[in-house]
Amino acid sequence: MTPNDMNGSVALITGGTGGIGLETARGLARRGASVILVGLDPARGLRAARDIRDSAGHDRVHAVSADVTRLDGLRRLAGEVGERHDRLDVLVNNVGVNLPDRELTADGVEKMFAAHVLTPFTLTHLLLPLLRRAPAARVVNLTGGIPGGPIDRTDLQGERRYLGWTFSHYNHTKTMTMAMTHRLAGRLRGTGVTANVVYPGHGHTPMNRSTPIRAFPIAYRPIAPLVLKVVAPLFLSDLTRSARSSVYAATSAELEGVSGAYVDDRCRRKPLPASALDPGNQEAVWELCVRLSAPVLRAAGEPPSA
Ligand SMILES: NC(=O)c1ccc[n+]([C@@H]2O[C@H](COP(=O)([O-])OP(=O)(O)OC[C@H]3O[C@@H](n4cnc5c(N)ncnc54)[C@H](OP(=O)(O)O)[C@@H]3O)[C@@H](O)[C@H]2O)c1
Repeated sequence: MTPNDMNGSVALITGGTGGIGLETARGLARRGASVILVGLDPARGLRAARDIRDSAGHDRVHAVSADVTRLDGLRRLAGEVGERHDRLDVLVNNVGVNLPDRELTADGVEKMFAAHVLTPFTLTHLLLPLLRRAPAARVVNLTGGIPGGPIDRTDLQGERRYLGWTFSHYNHTKTMTMAMTHRLAGRLRGTGVTANVVYPGHGHTPMNRSTPIRAFPIAYRPIAPLVLKVVAPLFLSDLTRSARSSVYAATSAELEGVSGAYVDDRCRRKPLPASALDPGNQEAVWELCVRLSAPVLRAAGEPPSA
């Protein structure tokens, strides 16, 4: 797949109706891909689809409303996609959340672990039959914050430690996204499907606009208001920049056949941090994902092994 040559391809972007996901979807649609935008609010979805159709110059863009932090939402979403499409070339697991207080999803899973780790894991497995039907499908998972710190295998869902002086469970879960993606890439070897993780860089998005200061580690709080209220609106409003690394990972000829890699916000390949490459950490994260996703993946006939 080369840039500007996605005609005939199908791409799905979670969180594709707003923020960085919307610009990622626009970038892929402009290259000719049929695009599925996933968001929560149906009206925002319709508006985003219309907006992208206008700028892409074709009408193969539609929005689906689903809460991707819920397993039943993922199951319904995968079912709907399977009814409309017989293959999927690109899956961008873009949805992220940054919550000041620990919250659980309807499935009883800590919400940031769900959004950043369990959702990409589960949705990729639910959509594997469609991904395998594409000639060279690509899964793109998003990291963020300041990933690369330690992974606490005994506290993957932030029960004991959620926010601290320099630690945040947001960063913790984004490091786990890297660990899970690297393990996923290994598991997908030989299937023709690749999986990579990208860092988008900062963007002035709905998530950032609504994140309360107390969601950040204490050391970062003194400068957080300045960054969010002044720097971000002034310098980070061009979200095409923030979408660059996702579009690159989904389309670049340089990444043909590359899997398990980490791409930064300037589209440069960088080594994954040691904590994400640690086999014990990968195993702990993978096993938890296998266990938590079992109800939907077993029913779908796509159960991954531990
Ligand atoms: N923004 C940054 O500075 C930054 C920096 C580094 C990394 N990142 C990462 O980049 C990714 C995108 O960030 P962003 O700032 O663009 O996020 P965002 O502003 O929250 O993205 C908004 C989009 O996500 C959708 N969404 C939110 N929760 C959802 C859910 N539970 N189910 C389905 N859709 C949902 C929204 O749909 P509705 O409009 O319908 O609610 C909308 O389409 C995230 O993974 C984030 O962690 C962001």
